[in-house]
Amino acid sequence: MSSCPERAIWRAMALLVLVLVLVCAPVFAADKYPGIGRAATPKELAAWDIDVRPDFLGLPKGSGSVAQGQNVWETKCESCHGVFGESNQVFSPIVGGTTAEDVKTGRVARLTDQAYPGRTTLMKVATLSTLWDYINRAMPWNQPKSLTPDEVYAVLAYLLNLGNVVPDNFTLSDQTMAQAQSRMPNRNGMTTAHGLWPGKELRSMAKPDVAAVACMHNCVEGPVVASTLPDFARNQHGNLAEQNRPVGPQRGADTSRPEGKAGSQPVAVAVAVAPIAPPKPAVAPKTDGAGVDSKAALALATKLNCTACHGVSQKIVGPAFTDIAKKHAGKVDYLSGKIRSGGTGVWGPIPMPAQTLSDADARLLASWIGTGAAR
Ligand code: HEC
Ligand code: HEC
Repeated sequence: MSSCPERAIWRAMALLVLVLVLVCAPVFAADKYPGIGRAATPKELAAWDIDVRPDFLGLPKGSGSVAQGQNVWETKCESCHGVFGESNQVFSPIVGGTTAEDVKTGRVARLTDQAYPGRTTLMKVATLSTLWDYINRAMPWNQPKSLTPDEVYAVLAYLLNLGNVVPDNFTLSDQTMAQAQSRMPNRNGMTTAHGLWPGKELRSMAKPDVAAVACMHNCVEGPVVASTLPDFARNQHGNLAEQNRPVGPQRGADTSRPEGKAGSQPVAVAVAVAPIAPPKPAVAPKTDGAGVDSKAALALATKLNCTACHGVSQKIVGPAFTDIAKKHAGKVDYLSGKIRSGGTGVWGPIPMPAQTLSDADARLLASWIGTGAAR
């Protein structure tokens, strides 16, 4: 009997300690390295904390219908991913390749059919949360995080409808995600029966199949090549450089010639890297002959993410600004119009999406590009 109040006191104290730890954790973290940095504010944490888990924890409230999604798709996604998600020749297709039978079984039969060409997103993805999360954080590619939660629900409903996963009158919401998940064509496609991420099937393997040991001193300098591909096997599957998409980080080696011998293939800059490390402007601010502040123009192009697709003197997804300058020298009106409207066909099949920027900004960029895009 006498132990009861004691236990209650202990419980209260434990709770107090827990609360103190939670409340003070950020402060302790900052104190650990005095004078360096500060604790993140709740607002900063909220901006980062956007992940959505497969059990749907993290999903914001909201909803969107298939019809609303079609609108979002046509205005914000179609230029890159095609009218029906089948994509143009550059971007990999999102919809296609799944059947009504797959929706029943939860396993896409064509994934094991070697003769079936290509793998679409809907064929592969097992968890709907992944698609929601990816679109929410990364799309549209040129304006990530610009969609409202309702727009993400809507456009995802539209994609699922194109894949015959949900009916025309479906509304996707935080409440109906689980219902749609239960019809994902490849929902049973995930496995942990492999060495990379061993699951209970491979209990005996305690760890993944790579074993790296962190080294802090007397470390081996540089890697040691333990085995190489024999020369005769290099081109076994045809020229890899010609088989890769012209965008994205994987370029593929030119296997039509021996390793180390540069091919005639131009090696483009990896698209995924460009936005993170935009080309640095030259140090001295200078205005060119036409009085354009080239430093301000380049800073603006970087801020507006133009440099994700255009290098100043290097083709990325779009043409190099210096090449555009040669083709359209002095045509400021034409260029500022094209910057705002986007377009396709002048440089190739890849479209440039319409850009949202003020008239003054468009004219600054157009004058800069039209007079040579000097750095
Ligand atoms: C300017 C071109 C562009 C626009 C506009 C665009 N995307 Fe994308 N999208 C891409 C690229 C490029 C990738 C591949 C990115 C990668 O592999 O790193 C991609 C990938 C995706 C994927 C993942 C495909 C997969 O299987 O990995 C989805 C889903 C997607 N986009 C949906 C959308 C939606 C929805 C919109 C409109 C709200 C949109 N995209 C607008 C270029 C675009
Ligand atoms: C998602 C990739 C992408 C983004 C972002 C992008 N562009 Fe483009 N841009 C392209 C592509 C691709 C072309 C080639 C279109 C064509 O062949 O007609 C192009 C073409 C152009 C042209 C030449 C038009 C013509 O008719 O010759 C100009 C000028 C231009 N872009 C400027 C810009 C500016 C300025 C920005 C930023 C405000 C920007 N672009 C953002 C991909 C992009």
